[in-house]
Amino acid sequence: MNWSLQNHAVISNDEVRQLDRDYVFHSWSIQGNLNPLVIAGAKGCELWDYDGKTYIDFSSQLVNVNIGYQHPRVLAAMKAQLEELVTIAPATANFTRGEAAKRIVELAPKNFSKVFFTNGGADANENAIRMARLYTGRDKVLSAYRSYHGNTGSAIAATGDWRRVPNEYSRGHVHFFNPYLYRSEFNATTEAEECQRALAHLQRIIECEGPGSIAAILLESIPGTAGILVPPTGYLQGVRALADQFGILLILDEVMSGFGRTGSWFSFEQDGVVPDLVTFAKGVNSGYVPTGGVLISEPIAHYFDNHFFAGGLTYSGHPLAMASIVATIDVMKDENVLENAATVGNGVLRPGLEALAQKYTIIGNVRGRGLFQAIELVSNRESKTPLTAVDMIAIKNAFTEAGLLTFVVENRVHVVPPCTIGAEHVNEGLAILDSVLSNFEYLAK
Ligand SMILES: Cc1ncc(COP(=O)(O)O)c(C=O)c1O
Repeated sequence: MNWSLQNHAVISNDEVRQLDRDYVFHSWSIQGNLNPLVIAGAKGCELWDYDGKTYIDFSSQLVNVNIGYQHPRVLAAMKAQLEELVTIAPATANFTRGEAAKRIVELAPKNFSKVFFTNGGADANENAIRMARLYTGRDKVLSAYRSYHGNTGSAIAATGDWRRVPNEYSRGHVHFFNPYLYRSEFNATTEAEECQRALAHLQRIIECEGPGSIAAILLESIPGTAGILVPPTGYLQGVRALADQFGILLILDEVMSGFGRTGSWFSFEQDGVVPDLVTFAKGVNSGYVPTGGVLISEPIAHYFDNHFFAGGLTYSGHPLAMASIVATIDVMKDENVLENAATVGNGVLRPGLEALAQKYTIIGNVRGRGLFQAIELVSNRESKTPLTAVDMIAIKNAFTEAGLLTFVVENRVHVVPPCTIGAEHVNEGLAILDSVLSNFEYLAK
């Protein structure tokens, strides 16, 4: 008998969890004591397990399911592609690949002209760095300590957080502090001060490293996993100006912030900057199959018209991924997903989180843009002492138990539902946040 899901009509949570624990090796974990959540299916903004327990999604998994689960138009486009041509090498010209690239270029600022497709976000950054080094003939890459850029050679070395440290195989990476007023590295007390001091710090790093040795500055438009750190007004423009002054390329990583999450196609649109290279993944096809890419501005694309690009991937522009990109972008346009992220994010979710912060002193800070919001949990508002890992695990488990999936990092709850979520679902989720946090308010000192 051929294997198929249908042949396993009766599946229990326990059976699936045991199968996983027997055979599956997990990311970023000590393997021995894992207890993964079992999910059987999902639709829209809801998921369920084999016992019929349902969850509202405030996580979009890894902040990628931007149009929600099992969107019928995307599934139909993928099925049609499956029937027509399921795989073809990247060196061929393929209709769906061309359509996907054309759509992405059309969403970008005017001076962008080509797309290089990758398997995900890390290799998008990897290849953007490669392009910057080849184009400038320079070697160093500057990136922020509060960042995550992926788990491959240069992408993890460019990452700022703790995951870089055991993985530093790649050369030429230098880090700097990006703005984060709530926990300022610069003793700043206002956004304007934080912005000005962070830019002065970056300028000193560039001068000390030798501007002529720096190929690129790589930044997330809004650092995501690092805490949804919306840059102060003028910061990205200041970085752009520094890059121009010293002949350095600006790569903006939109892997998490792009494709609707903040209410625009790219978050940087709201900051009035135009980078030289943009990396994307996740939301571009809602994560239905692995894909990502580099959006390339005209001068760099043109440079490679007569210079060899030393990079490539077997699955670059895989037709199934391309079909899912085309359909996802069309759905986002036709169903006003960006407008929804802006109105529900800024108009319902954000005020709801701020109301919770009025009620519970364990919420030290609320920040974000659109449906890209975070709250920081602290045991003391004055000292801003983060809640402990043990407390955060208990809080996350309580959310899950109450039927809410959240994206918890360190002492933060990142509130990042699918960009298609309605006000009703947001209010249901907020009510769960409210009742769970009320049980942990005693941690405030
Ligand atoms: C901003 C950013 N860049 C890059 C990546 C890496 O993407 P992937 O896991 O698809 O390689 C991530 C993943 O979370 C991310 O958030």
